[in-house]
Amino acid sequence: MNIKDNISLDNIPKHVAIIMDGNGRWAKKVGALRAFGHKNGVNTVRTTVEACVELGIKNLTLYAFSTENWNRPKLEINALMQLLVSSLEKEIDELDKQGVFINTIGEMDKLPGNCSKALSRAKAQTKNNTQLTLTLALSYSGRWDLTNAIQSIAEKVSEGALSPQEIDQEIIQEHLSTAHLHEPELLIRTSGEMRISNFLLWEIAYSEIYVTETLWPDFSKEEFFKAIIDYQNRERRFGKTSEQINP
Ligand code: FPP
Repeated sequence: MNIKDNISLDNIPKHVAIIMDGNGRWAKKVGALRAFGHKNGVNTVRTTVEACVELGIKNLTLYAFSTENWNRPKLEINALMQLLVSSLEKEIDELDKQGVFINTIGEMDKLPGNCSKALSRAKAQTKNNTQLTLTLALSYSGRWDLTNAIQSIAEKVSEGALSPQEIDQEIIQEHLSTAHLHEPELLIRTSGEMRISNFLLWEIAYSEIYVTETLWPDFSKEEFFKAIIDYQNRERRFGKTSEQINP
């Protein structure tokens, strides 16, 4: 029996977010440079997108480059940015065919010019697609996003467009870069690290967390399906008791 047959199609998450971790360790394991790990990580991005399309998952958000990743050696940063450009160029037509809309969150103006241009082209080409929104978090961090949101809200308060009492959770959500995305029901992290690493801090308040020891380049479609099955077996209580949920 195919593992996918165990997935119940009436409980598919609308949004899956992934911390793609372990490319460097994977490269070390095979005796290669870190950039080779990232290159192989792109294959996993492709199969994960396919898996989402197969299941009808509407949103996939990938942590591709954090604000803190700017502190990595320049050589690795350049390799990652170059890989992003070449992968977009290579994959965009197939992604477009699959109905994928390319979206980004993060400081686009910090990315090298060829990178932001490739992203703008990809966004424009795929803007009418509705099968899956693939959000790439680039030069992104949860604290960066919350800081921006707080600044915009404070500006509205100082202009008199908003009163402090009117600030509620909805207003905060509306000012985040993820305002138009459903909150992720499932957060996956590969490579066994038990950390959030400044990813979607506000949005994952009630996300189910799935951590696997598998390194990102080895994370197969089957393992993605396993994570979905695991999610489907969770009891999501949102602070209520089990009895309230299953009367
Ligand atoms: C974490 O592994 C991975 C990254 C910082 C980059 C992720 C990028 C890709 C998968 C490739 C490009 C992405 C797209 C969307 C085309 P790590 O380097 O921290 O691994 P380590 O913890 O084992 O050192």
